[in-house]
Amino acid sequence: MLSAVGPPVTVRVPAKINLHLAVGDTRPDGYHDLVTVFQALNLFDEVSVVTAHAGRPTGERLATIGQGAPGVELLGDLTDEERDAVPVDSSNLAWQAAVALAEAVGREPDVRIGLRKAIPVAGGMAGGSADAAGALLALASLWRLDLGREALMEIAATVGSDVAFALHGGTALGTGRGESLVPVLSRHTFHWVVALQDHGLSTPTVFGELDRLRQGADAEGPLRRIGSVEPVLEAIASGEARSLALLLGNDLQAAAVSLDPGLRRTLRAGVSAGALAGVVSGSGPTCVFLCTDGPSAVRVAAELAGAGVCRTVRVAHGPVPGARVIDGDPTR
Ligand code: C5P
Repeated sequence: MLSAVGPPVTVRVPAKINLHLAVGDTRPDGYHDLVTVFQALNLFDEVSVVTAHAGRPTGERLATIGQGAPGVELLGDLTDEERDAVPVDSSNLAWQAAVALAEAVGREPDVRIGLRKAIPVAGGMAGGSADAAGALLALASLWRLDLGREALMEIAATVGSDVAFALHGGTALGTGRGESLVPVLSRHTFHWVVALQDHGLSTPTVFGELDRLRQGADAEGPLRRIGSVEPVLEAIASGEARSLALLLGNDLQAAAVSLDPGLRRTLRAGVSAGALAGVVSGSGPTCVFLCTDGPSAVRVAAELAGAGVCRTVRVAHGPVPGARVIDGDPTR
């Protein structure tokens, strides 16, 4: 299927937010059925792969990947907390993706993976899944695999619920665990402010908290669930930020806020700063704010940065494409 040792490859892969995240009941496998609308934003991790022990790679982007045994290393500036939150052992999702791909094509995962992270760690923006998607695409290129996107998407879905979307990018409707994707018509760009926190939330803990809240709430009437997805798809197609703002919804928000009550202040502060609406991204704690246009997003970000309700802010837009090779074989 392959074999020559290829040159180092770097892939750029976007963060995701959920414009709509409806969480169903727990399934027998412990997951929850979802109906979600993903959008990829222009916050990117870079995933570099090189054959282990192949010598020090050349090229600016890869200059800091050490020579060494197969494994994962973190490149670039990260806080101590972020470093602590990204495992560099076999539990790293990018490594698991490498192992899954190697198994699928019958070879050893004899690679070193470098992660340069800009997507918030444990932030609800699928940073770990992005790295897994990046590793799949980068290795398919490094190993010169004759695998189409569809085959990669299938392997992606086995690695994690959000990995397939990180490959796909754009805007997409996700069902099942979130891994079953249909593209959503979206010719318009939406402008966002992203509020990052100085701590993370664990995705399983947030899903567990939602289950707990729903059980408790049942005695006094059910916990409110977000509405149906169709109007959200219409608002996306229309490109009307004001329409979409009224429809942003996330069933996990109540659980994230229950675990991290300070998020209420963050959400209020973004709207006070002039955003059309704010919502917790995925399982949080990152909050995202939809703005009327790019200049408005810059103003909202500046005001929110001074409000003392988050670690830092980013201005972003979406949709953007999924994982892309930026160094190495450009045909992927
Ligand atoms: O698939 P992934 O590894 O990203 O999921 C992380 C955790 O989030 C799962 O172990 C599960 O606890 C929770 N989850 C869920 N239902 C989903 C997706 C994730 O309960 N559809």
